[in-house]
Amino acid sequence: MANSRRKVMDVLRGEVVNPPPIWLMRQAGRYLPEYRETRALAKNFLDLCYSPDLAVEVTLQPIRRYGFDAAILFSDILVVPDALHRNVRFSEGHGPQMDPISADEIGALKPVGFLGHLQPVFETVRRLRKELPDETTLLGFCGAPWTVATYMIAGHGTPDQAPARLFGYQHPEVFEHLLAVLAELSAEYLVAQIDAGADALQIFDSWAGVLGEDEFERYCVKPVARIIASVKAQRPSAKTIAFAKGAGLMLTDYRRKTGADAIGLDWTVPLSFAAELQKDGPVQGNLDPMRVVAGGNALAEGVDAILAALGNGPLIFNLGHGITPQADPENVAALVARVRGSGT
Ligand code: CP3
Repeated sequence: MANSRRKVMDVLRGEVVNPPPIWLMRQAGRYLPEYRETRALAKNFLDLCYSPDLAVEVTLQPIRRYGFDAAILFSDILVVPDALHRNVRFSEGHGPQMDPISADEIGALKPVGFLGHLQPVFETVRRLRKELPDETTLLGFCGAPWTVATYMIAGHGTPDQAPARLFGYQHPEVFEHLLAVLAELSAEYLVAQIDAGADALQIFDSWAGVLGEDEFERYCVKPVARIIASVKAQRPSAKTIAFAKGAGLMLTDYRRKTGADAIGLDWTVPLSFAAELQKDGPVQGNLDPMRVVAGGNALAEGVDAILAALGNGPLIFNLGHGITPQADPENVAALVARVRGSGT
């Protein structure tokens, strides 16, 4: 149905909406003083993700402030390994940590009580759909199997995912088994988010950009295609956005091969290439988050270039990756105003 009240959904159906709808990856986060205040009420970061009262509150904060066209469920991609009993911790200043998984443990992986562990997330989604304005799209999400696996193998974040790349060469079958298990569970997780009230789903493959061509096909394209096929087989009207950060030229066939409705673009994707990709369907992105930190002309010029190149096709305006803690909330207000045509 065209021209519903939810503009992000219209774009996901291939409509051109002018001005384009806007939301920002990591829009609920540390750059907002009200986030930091709510965050202090939780024992730790995972407790924030699993407390529906607090998770609903932080999801709504950027919607109240800026009236974004989409709200993204407040959670984390690493609740999936947490639900697989990998002892996930977020300690201040260290980023995420978990018990590194061995080849033997991957073979024995038994997802006991997986969806049960994630019930607080579904409760958050249910409450959000009731509390959000009718015109705000509610996005659910998960991490793509490759990106989640990089943390599971190393036990923490690394700059180039060398541990997971090495593991893939040393144990190719075990690694593909891990990706297949994660794909199957991620599909279940996303279907449950749709059933709880999510309108559309984003799959974050934040570490796609460290892989060669063959590995990109096997680790990124194939598992994401598997998730989307499974979700669509179970919930045919569900819409998906696939974001393979750093994938560059490998984005050429990514939409067709994965079955994603829209593809997310990071800021290194040239706008001329983005416009080519947009001929096949909706794109989302791709402002450099550092332009939001810089503000002023750097922000205005970045916005204008994206609108000039992509504004006449199906576009969901977003950053090319998550907003960073040092962004000034005033600059976000200026960004939204400029995209909506009322900025200076
Ligand atoms: O507002 C939103 O976008 C929704 C919430 C959201 C978070 N993480 C909250 C969060 C989403 C969609 C994510 C996705 C996520 N988490 C990704 C994929 C997207 C991306 O940014 O690449 C990844 C790789 C993770 C894993 C993760 N979570 C890392 C590496 C970190 C530590 C780095 C950091 O920014 O601190 C997190 C923690 C995290 N997830 C925070 C937030 C708001 C900060 C933690 C805090 O408040 O102390």
